[in-house]
Amino acid sequence: MIISVPKEIKNNENRVAITPAGVKELVKRGHEVYVQSTAGHGSGFIDDDYTAAGAKITPDIEAAYKMGEMIVKVKEPVFREYNLITSGHVMFTYFHFASSLELTQAMINQKAVCIAYETVEHEDRSLPLLVPMSEVAGRMAVQEGAKYLEKPMMGKGILLGGVPGVLPAKVLIIGGGVVGTEAAKMAAGLGADVIIMDSNLKRLRYLADIMPANVKTMASNEYNIRKMIRDQDLIIGAVLIPGAKAPKLITKDMLKDMQRGTVLVDVAIDQGGCIETCRPTTHEDPTYIVDGIVHYCVANMPGAVPYTSTLALTNATLPYIIELAGSGWKTAVAQHMELSKGLNLCKGQVSCSGVADAFNLPHHVKPQLQ
Ligand SMILES: NC(=O)c1ccc[n+]([C@@H]2O[C@H](COP(=O)([O-])OP(=O)(O)OC[C@H]3O[C@@H](n4cnc5c(N)ncnc54)[C@H](O)[C@@H]3O)[C@@H](O)[C@H]2O)c1
Repeated sequence: MIISVPKEIKNNENRVAITPAGVKELVKRGHEVYVQSTAGHGSGFIDDDYTAAGAKITPDIEAAYKMGEMIVKVKEPVFREYNLITSGHVMFTYFHFASSLELTQAMINQKAVCIAYETVEHEDRSLPLLVPMSEVAGRMAVQEGAKYLEKPMMGKGILLGGVPGVLPAKVLIIGGGVVGTEAAKMAAGLGADVIIMDSNLKRLRYLADIMPANVKTMASNEYNIRKMIRDQDLIIGAVLIPGAKAPKLITKDMLKDMQRGTVLVDVAIDQGGCIETCRPTTHEDPTYIVDGIVHYCVANMPGAVPYTSTLALTNATLPYIIELAGSGWKTAVAQHMELSKGLNLCKGQVSCSGVADAFNLPHHVKPQLQ
């Protein structure tokens, strides 16, 4: 198959969909890979790295789309790319269709086959192509939280791990899934006193078993949250109710009970946020202050560490790219439940119920596969 990797042109997106290591794996299997010039620069890969691995470099985005049968990307196509996509293309990328009617309609009109990373799903309902970004965001939440606790950043001026003779900082993590677990490991590693709250007792039992002694678990409910926020230094929001908006677990009135300079990092902001006073921010301007409390609410946290994020993402996507290229998309989708869940649009038909429901479009359970 001919696989093509355009350069991401969405604002501030520095990741790339295939690394030179991925190119080597594909070329080894007899596939042809085209990579747009400078596509890897933001992640630390130069064109020569790709050519050494066996890729051919295209001079511009038009050529990248023209050459490929399968287009592998990171983010959804932006307006400028819509007309470069044709009915001959298989698109494999994050789409998040349900959040954009314009994008959905454009891909329906172009009649491309669209397989979305975010809906590729294992039998146990886990989402293998979302997990790596949650791992990155969870670890970053502590790094960013530690930075904004510094006085010049308007925080309390507390060092997360303390020093001999001085107590460490207190970190409360609400939501003990992928983000929460990674955040707890980082905060504990730096020596902080950590509490993880979750509404799922089974999850808390597991976390209590595997976490170090400076991580404690606690059931998540309003009473416990109100009690604990009073003396915390860093609070990380990491809840998810799949398919729904995040519940507002910290309300505006609770801010007055917190100490000034407390830092809130609402990682769940991409699902609306679990802290009422949080609104999405960007890496250019990541924080703002409400009632003396620092709010960090960047909706694409992994974008700040494109090298790590690219490697984490491509480690997870490469096996699927190899399968789609090797078997062809129709066979791959027919034989692999995870990929069939990933198929969102097929030659103008909507095959994902979430996307059909979002815009009241007809849902084709068995889309036309020719
Ligand atoms: N901002 C970013 O850049 C970024 C990056 C990656 C992920 N995220 C977001 O982070 C959030 C968490 O992702 P995840 O992968 O860890 O999800 P996950 O499904 O692994 O974990 C979510 C956890 O929240 C718990 N939960 C649900 N309701 C709760 C409640 N009322 N109180 C306490 N816990 C509750 C669940 O039991 C689960 O353990 C999601 O919204 C995800 O989209 C954001």
